[in-house]
Amino acid sequence: MPVRPQIQDLQAEVIAWRRHLHQYPELGYKEEQTADFIQQKLSQWGIEHQAGIAQTGIVATIPGQEPGPVLAIRADMDALPIQEENEVPYRSRHDGVMHACGHDGHTAIALGTAYYLAQHRADFAGTVKLIFQPAEESPGGAKPMIEAGVLRNPTVDAMVGLHLWNNLPLGTVGLREGPLMAAVDLFECSIQGKGGHGAMPHQTIDAVVVSAQIVNALQSIVARGLDPLDAAVLTVGQLHTGSASNVIADRAWMSGTVRYFNPDLAMETAGLPSVIAAQMDQIITGVCQSWGATAQLKYWHLYPAVINDPRVTDMVRSIATSLVETPLGLVPNCQTMGGEDMSFFLQEVPGCYFFLGSANPSQGLDFPHHHPQFNFDESALALGIEIFVRCAETFNLEVVGR
Ligand code: NI
Repeated sequence: MPVRPQIQDLQAEVIAWRRHLHQYPELGYKEEQTADFIQQKLSQWGIEHQAGIAQTGIVATIPGQEPGPVLAIRADMDALPIQEENEVPYRSRHDGVMHACGHDGHTAIALGTAYYLAQHRADFAGTVKLIFQPAEESPGGAKPMIEAGVLRNPTVDAMVGLHLWNNLPLGTVGLREGPLMAAVDLFECSIQGKGGHGAMPHQTIDAVVVSAQIVNALQSIVARGLDPLDAAVLTVGQLHTGSASNVIADRAWMSGTVRYFNPDLAMETAGLPSVIAAQMDQIITGVCQSWGATAQLKYWHLYPAVINDPRVTDMVRSIATSLVETPLGLVPNCQTMGGEDMSFFLQEVPGCYFFLGSANPSQGLDFPHHHPQFNFDESALALGIEIFVRCAETFNLEVVGR
């Protein structure tokens, strides 16, 4: 059964909202115009809501006609510090800020879902809570929203959310139970050597050589230090050292990110925040010792892995299966090392986060997320709304085994 006509008819308006949001993108915790726009719509439709949660977040509540469980739907609202390079009439009017990840689409889908459900309260039991979340890109608005109590009054029983996904073609849905997106850790390491003349290395401790050895050695953690069945990645994204071609550098500084799915790897080990941090520290200390350098490692967790509940995922999977053309439309075992702070919500309540295919190469709509020419096929929006509406219509406590 395809997207219902009432939702298909809504699509033109949803696209207009998305384009408005796209024109006025705002960075994390600065989503003020965005929040005003959302509130204006919710008020216009008579939907009860509370704004200013975790600064710019909004929670809307739509009760169905019959009492029942509470399903939360989450949409993120923030943009990125990127200068848009798309030549479209609705291109960003905020210099250096761009919706380059599709969060404008997520907000428009959630608004479309709210509008439809508010008009069709007889078609679902219980309550639907719409959570408009700030600052997904950084520093993360999900945790502060949880701390502000968005999962209580009434208590949320399950949660769903989606990401428009240009890694998948339009008309597809990607999902899996268990880990969908990776845990995101960050690190910084400063190395202290001893500087000197470029022609007299024996009088120095060369921070360039030491840091290069460290970068190489760190790569062997994934290859040799972890169970090969535990996918992980360690990226040194920055390495700064040296100032002149005839000078041996006295210090170096690097930073990077570590990604993995297995939550066991996030456990504190040897006084460090994770299994991988402990191995990094051992390698960095060892390499430094062998040259007489010293180092300091800082390591912290940003987002945990996005772990989907098997039962809620079953519900979304069967809804998606009835909507997309199988077998190609449903992409099972979809997984990425990208991170998402939806993970904090999924640590609190069972839920399912999924990818909504949005690439259309024939129209040039297949640039990767976070690219200055990122854009997606807007006909994905109606499918997103249809899936969320069906989740509201389908969800009951049996889905979560209660
Ligand atoms: Ni995103």
